[in-house]
Amino acid sequence: MEKKITIAIDGFSSTGKSTVAKRLAKELGYVYVDTGAMYRAVTLYMMRKIFVSEDNIDEEAIIRHLPFINLHFEFNEDLGYGEMYLNNENVEKEIRYLEVSQQVSKVSAIPQVRKKLVEQQQEMGENKGVVMDGRDIGTVVFPDAELKIFMTASTETRAQRRYDELKDRGDDINFEDVLKNVKDRDYMDSTREDSPLIKADDAIEFDNSNLGLEEQFEKILKIAKDKIAEV
Ligand code: DC
Repeated sequence: MEKKITIAIDGFSSTGKSTVAKRLAKELGYVYVDTGAMYRAVTLYMMRKIFVSEDNIDEEAIIRHLPFINLHFEFNEDLGYGEMYLNNENVEKEIRYLEVSQQVSKVSAIPQVRKKLVEQQQEMGENKGVVMDGRDIGTVVFPDAELKIFMTASTETRAQRRYDELKDRGDDINFEDVLKNVKDRDYMDSTREDSPLIKADDAIEFDNSNLGLEEQFEKILKIAKDKIAEV
């Protein structure tokens, strides 16, 4: 039988990691784990329970609330991937709101938050056969992953993709706010002390600024199949 591997896909926000990762998991028959959704769900919980704003973050209160958070993914047949549940409530849509995006980098910089989520992610991937996307998958969660991909694309390309996605959903937003959020998160995610976003030494850098979805997917699928055949 074909050996299953662990595939880690890391990169800045809105590089299209999750679109490729979802399709790749489906094609290979692997489990897809969107770790950004987990950080977003924790942030949403905190925004509902305690006051969290960009320049006011009560770390102690966040840490105190952590034990009351239960996260799981539930596979949705129609969508073909697992949706995020926060204490048994489907929060898949709500966690993508710009308000949550504006707070998530602050919450995800707290080491206790990371510890809780990293442990859960390691459990989800312990049997391999997983495609996990995030910021620290190849460096912290699965440093021994057989395949690591580091996705990049220009800031403007990423902001435009994110803007189109939110507009398509009917959100009332403007491009400048989305661009600012992408830049702010890039900065915060790559300069935080605990597990900053950096390319793992053995990750393959993949710039998709000028690639369509199909082309991108085909290239990554080939890289993954070659790797699976090699192990
Ligand atoms: O992938 P995303 O844009 O949905 O992630 C939302 C935020 O969560 C991102 O700005 C930083 C944080 N995150 C993280 O710190 N570590 C991960 N493995 C995934 C996401």
